[in-house]
Amino acid sequence: MKFFIDTANLEQIKEAQDLGVLDGVTTNPSLMAKEGIKGQENILKHYEDICKIVTGDVSAEVISTDYAGIIKEGEALAKLHPRIVVKVPMIKDGVKAIKYFSDNGIRTNCTLVFSAGQALLAAKAGATYVSPFIGRLDDVSTDGLRLIEDIRLIYDNYAYHTEILAASVRHPMHIINCAQLGADVVTCPLSAILALLKHPLTDSGLAQFLADAKK
Ligand code: E4P
Repeated sequence: MKFFIDTANLEQIKEAQDLGVLDGVTTNPSLMAKEGIKGQENILKHYEDICKIVTGDVSAEVISTDYAGIIKEGEALAKLHPRIVVKVPMIKDGVKAIKYFSDNGIRTNCTLVFSAGQALLAAKAGATYVSPFIGRLDDVSTDGLRLIEDIRLIYDNYAYHTEILAASVRHPMHIINCAQLGADVVTCPLSAILALLKHPLTDSGLAQFLADAKK
């Protein structure tokens, strides 16, 4: 399973890259705003900066919601770097744009996916990645992990190549459960990745070994 980091923070991206387990980055307009990145020029430069740090795919989200606007914005984003993946919302014009991008060699991440039917449409349109938001489903008392299971079954039934990118992943158990269910990718905050490191028996065992080594 691939690990993507879900942030636009360059320090955190560097830290995850240095750990040696990072396969890519996802961003969204809220994450860019959180870093204070404003204006088209600064936004494009920030994506280039991210591409300089990581060796994997970088999802860059369009903010247009009409077909012509999504195509124009997506083509500009794709030109920035070969590893840019154009992130497109799951709306009617978004699905049409994903089909256009797929036919024209531009890779896409279909975002804001909350149902198996939406994931099926994304795959049929030729999305490279589909992003089901499991944490946000959990937030409204719906089983986010069940959606990963359903999409896995559907994609395997028809051998769709679209990769399941579990998004809105909030904690280490989400990561472990996604791995058990066969998600291709998880995208999460650095804190969730680092939390996988932790176990009290590792800490106490190491303390004991270091103490014994001094004897
Ligand atoms: C997906 O790519 C989104 O950026 C992200 O995972 C949303 O997560 P949130 O629900 O924690 O905002």
